[in-house]
Amino acid sequence: MSNVVVVGSQWGDEGKGKIVDWLSERADVVVRFQGGHNAGHTLVIDGEVYKLSLLPSGIVRGGKLSVIGNGVVVDPWALVKEMKKLSEQGVTINAESLLISEGCSLILPLHGELDAIREDAAKAKSETGPVIGTTRRGIGPAYEDKVARRALRVCDLKSEETVAKRVDVLLAHHNPLRKGLGFDEVNRDELIAQIMEVSKHVLPLVGASWKILDEAKKEGKKILFEGAQGIMLDIDHGTYPFVTSSNVVASQAAGGSGMGAGSLDYILGITKAYTTRVGSGPFPTELFDEVGQGLGERGHEFGTVTGRSRRCGWFDAIMVRQVMKISGITGIALTKLDVLDGMEELKICVGYELNGEKLDYFPASTDDQANVKPIYESMEGWSESTFGARSWVDLPANAIKYVRRIEELIETPVAILSTSPERDDTILVKNPFE
Ligand code: IMP
Repeated sequence: MSNVVVVGSQWGDEGKGKIVDWLSERADVVVRFQGGHNAGHTLVIDGEVYKLSLLPSGIVRGGKLSVIGNGVVVDPWALVKEMKKLSEQGVTINAESLLISEGCSLILPLHGELDAIREDAAKAKSETGPVIGTTRRGIGPAYEDKVARRALRVCDLKSEETVAKRVDVLLAHHNPLRKGLGFDEVNRDELIAQIMEVSKHVLPLVGASWKILDEAKKEGKKILFEGAQGIMLDIDHGTYPFVTSSNVVASQAAGGSGMGAGSLDYILGITKAYTTRVGSGPFPTELFDEVGQGLGERGHEFGTVTGRSRRCGWFDAIMVRQVMKISGITGIALTKLDVLDGMEELKICVGYELNGEKLDYFPASTDDQANVKPIYESMEGWSESTFGARSWVDLPANAIKYVRRIEELIETPVAILSTSPERDDTILVKNPFE
């Protein structure tokens, strides 16, 4: 297996950082293919803490190529800031270690502003739109411009004339919109000057990601595709409209990088042993009591990017099974099992009830998603600690039963079991690269 795709199986924050780091050590090329700097990964390597938002995790390890694929929306100022911070920590970033696809659309300051304007307006007046609880990084507005065919792309940065033309097209849309919303218009010349200034740092790293990946494939290199967010935040398959604005599913690894779909060998779904969600939107198994609060405290469930507390709830096997199918997941990495230590009873959602009828899948309608009632199966918990377990014999019988039941319900095997944030506190059943 040369190529592995890692995706989140719930609403993000499944603990991808540790697993991606483990895999990226074994990969030659690490690729981001969707999202932008709304993601947040913390890597701890030899005691040094690295915070990544936009850059692929491979960047912190020498001798690897990190690729920002065409499906990513790039805020060049955030990129430069992240590169600077990492350089100060001793990470080498140059054309040998980082490639930015010429096809990436840009996030400009006006996108972040519009994201915040909309969120604030929705909070004040619900009829203006749903409060999504976005990261306010401009992700949604930037993808809107991409789809509307008026975005500036990384390849445009080569020529000031092209930038000026594209800015005119963009402002012909954004300035009337901003005016209507009661905000200042964007000054064209200032924006062009800002873009040309930042482009100096970006252009030396730009190339054709599909071509580089094709060469890597021919040379038999191991390629890791690093998904951000989680499949339930996918624009098509998630809890629309409470989603991010990109396709998060594993097949996007192909489209968002220019790699052929047939080259994706193993799809690893990172799956938390319970459920969390940041931001608003339906969450059938959410807990509003001290059990949910306990999960949040023991699991340190606070957002890496925004610092917001995450909503917590029981494992939803119906939703995760759906994600397994939609994303074609080969095996899962089950994370944070240790957070369940000491709980007397554990519940797993095995079906929903909607308007008196039983449902064995998560429906698409926003109203139905908000109204489904989980049907639970109860399991006995365990009092022993699983924290740091490195082999099945270190696990209490009830913990093994819980893991086996999850595998059965979601119809997908566990490839990796993670029992603490430490890299080596892992039970490896199957190395996705082998
Ligand atoms: P946006 O991606 O900033 O537009 O936010 C849309 C939704 O996705 C919000 O509910 C965010 O909280 C959520 N979201 C975006 N990125 C992440 C992430 O990396 N982890 C978890 N949730 C995320």
